[in-house]
Amino acid sequence: MTIIVTGGAGFIGSNFIYFELKNHPADKIICLDKLTYAGNLETLAEAQGNKNFEFVRGDIADREGVYKLFAAVKPDVVVNFAAESHVDRSIEDPELFLRTNIIGTSVLLDACRKFGIERFHQVSTDEVYGDLPLDRPDLFFTETTNLHTSSPYSASKAAADLLVQAYQRTYKIPATISRCSNNYGPFHFPEKLIPLMIINALHDKKLPVYGKGINVRDWLYVEDHCAAIDLIIRRGTVGEVYNIGGHNERTNLDVVKTILKILGKSEDLIEFVTDRKGHDQRYAIDPTKISRELGWTPQTKFDDGIKKTVAWYLDNRAWWEKIISGEYKNYYAKMYGNR
Ligand code: NAD
Ligand code: TYD
Repeated sequence: MTIIVTGGAGFIGSNFIYFELKNHPADKIICLDKLTYAGNLETLAEAQGNKNFEFVRGDIADREGVYKLFAAVKPDVVVNFAAESHVDRSIEDPELFLRTNIIGTSVLLDACRKFGIERFHQVSTDEVYGDLPLDRPDLFFTETTNLHTSSPYSASKAAADLLVQAYQRTYKIPATISRCSNNYGPFHFPEKLIPLMIINALHDKKLPVYGKGINVRDWLYVEDHCAAIDLIIRRGTVGEVYNIGGHNERTNLDVVKTILKILGKSEDLIEFVTDRKGHDQRYAIDPTKISRELGWTPQTKFDDGIKKTVAWYLDNRAWWEKIISGEYKNYYAKMYGNR
């Protein structure tokens, strides 16, 4: 089958492309990516040599370009990873999030209507459910939890989910949605918590922890997310939403301390800085449905995954050094300079 993977030059999309090329070598993968600041062709260098892989630079919100691609490659499946994905950036500049995450998704759905498709899969996030209180560890997000967003990022992702469901019902687009918890692993862009802390610690730079560091995230190794999406596109039921998460809840402070310990660095590097506006307290996924219906279980425990991730950043300095020496410097100065 032919799969269009949008946003495949980013963190999770690239890991998904490698997962598919390895596990389904007969399938053809076409990556459609705009190569924004978060997209990186070097991430796909190994895939470029595979005859079943093709990279196309393009914007999911460019209707003409998307229709041209669909007409040319006649995809069986579209997996939509393309998005503006960073909450802090969405707080600074929401509009781009609306364009890519909402309009972009609607253009892809229109292309599916026009050209026909076996499956459209929307890669969504647990952030569409808002947050859970810190003092109620008994509560988890299920697929029926109300959407209740906090940031422009999560609002744009929730809007996209609603559009997918509307197209599914109105135009019978065979669609599925997955909502995953926080991912970590190779090729994670250095603006996000885990890579940022690894890279700062390696430079003996301060580690900027927002607020008191007590917010909780539910961490999943990226390959486990990719395996879940793979199962959904092949065996999932059209019209369904699947939550993905591995019950790996940690406070931000715990995560940062774990990284420091692995690297043998001092906790004195931790610096508490002004909190994020509207900061979600706790995310926690109940993955019962995908486990029961599709037999998915996460393979990587947090303690192993975080060690593997730190090792990857140590072994792949050239990948991130190039990023942090470019435009990222201005981003870092703007976001953290006077925090
Ligand atoms: P990322 O920011 O690392 O990558 C996004 C990719 O999309 C980049 O390659 C970028 O160039 C591309 N892109 C951006 N705008 C585009 C456009 N208009 N047209 C085409 N390509 C465009 O993001 P990520 O962390 O890999 O997240 C991928 C998806 O997974 C997103 O939809 C995100 O909402 C979702 N998600 C992420 C997490 C997480 O922890 N990172 C968790 C759950 C869900
Ligand atoms: P992030 O990686 O941006 O993911 P998300 O906001 O989508 O969960 O942030 C994870 C958590 O880490 C979140 O609670 C915010 C916090 N955080 C910091 O404390 N310092 C930082 O420099 C960053 C980037 C995040």
